[in-house]
Amino acid sequence: MNNTIYMDNHATTPIAPEVLTAMMPYLTTHFGNASSTHPFGIAAKDVVDKARYQVAELLGCSAEEIIFTSGATESDNLAIRGIAYACREKGNHIITSTAEHHAILDTCHALAAEGFKTTYLPVDPYGRVSPDDVEAAITPKTVLMSFMYANNEVGTINPIVDIATVAAKHGVLFHSDAVQGIGQLTSNMEMLGLDLASLTAHKIYGPKGIGALYIRRNCSQPHSLFYGGGQEEGVRPGTLNVPGIVGLGAACELSKKYTEMGKSRVVTLRDTLHQKLGTCLDDIHLNGHPEQRLPGNLNLCFAGVQSHALLMGLKSVAVSTGSACDSESVKASHVLVAMGVPNELALTAVRFGLGRYNTAEEVDIVADEVVKVVNRLRALAPEW
Ligand SMILES: Cc1ncc(COP(=O)(O)O)c(C=O)c1O
Repeated sequence: MNNTIYMDNHATTPIAPEVLTAMMPYLTTHFGNASSTHPFGIAAKDVVDKARYQVAELLGCSAEEIIFTSGATESDNLAIRGIAYACREKGNHIITSTAEHHAILDTCHALAAEGFKTTYLPVDPYGRVSPDDVEAAITPKTVLMSFMYANNEVGTINPIVDIATVAAKHGVLFHSDAVQGIGQLTSNMEMLGLDLASLTAHKIYGPKGIGALYIRRNCSQPHSLFYGGGQEEGVRPGTLNVPGIVGLGAACELSKKYTEMGKSRVVTLRDTLHQKLGTCLDDIHLNGHPEQRLPGNLNLCFAGVQSHALLMGLKSVAVSTGSACDSESVKASHVLVAMGVPNELALTAVRFGLGRYNTAEEVDIVADEVVKVVNRLRALAPEW
């Protein structure tokens, strides 16, 4: 693994050294339960309070609007199911899109099986939802809409502010799976106009297994999905994961300090990689929006080369065929299918996810290796 260049930062990011340092005492000597009233517990509660504040600082909200969870899958479930159950008297209709993460799609499927009505809006060829489509889909029974901030496969950024305007006009709650956008893009909840938002630490150089749900003050409280000790205002009971929460807080603080210069460095690396590949290889296609895209995202189809064969051929590069959860599957990505990419081409897609720690030297090595392997595989394909 030591010689493998990591370019899969949409799947997960390495833990930043600063984050690990912040977490260490809470994995070792400072092991108290944040609900205990003795000094061990008080010390734990103090750092949980600090971390809640650090998350709130990044989101431009108040600490009381943050609920800690085990990650974005749980936050998405809590937002969608919790709000659906809480607003049942008012209506039973939820709107989302066909390009969402499975944490949203499968939650909506499960609610549909329970009798809720669900609408899956199409996306344009770049993967964006149209605010006009959103408005047209609203009915008097609509209680919630959920659209991701930025797509985890193709990096496309949704017009969140415009959708939020539509949601507010019709008094419908707006949740966003903001996992990929937070820390990379504008992360201020007020400016985005969101009522609820999911985030997770392991996409912003924090640990796995910890995340949060932002719930705007005065927004309907989601029903808890668990029964237990009443932690997190009873919305998410369970002993708090203190080291994880400290890690999430530290990762948020680090993200807040992450400069525009740092982001544009990643954009330059990504564009250099794209340009090098485009210069040396014919018939490669960019998936996702050319500009409205996450800084580190480069999702390309290499016509004639099955993405799994390419991944197997890349010996010193860690990239992905799309969403990590689907890496065992040979089905075309549901996101690319939703965008209208032909099935045969969609099966050739590879996602490069560049991050804070990638370098220009790595881009050169990756470009050379990809070109070599694509040319070798194309030479073997009779139709190529
Ligand atoms: C857009 C999106 N939503 C949800 C998740 C799930 O996050 P977690 O791993 O924290 O459950 C991911 C991670 O793959 C993601 O990219």
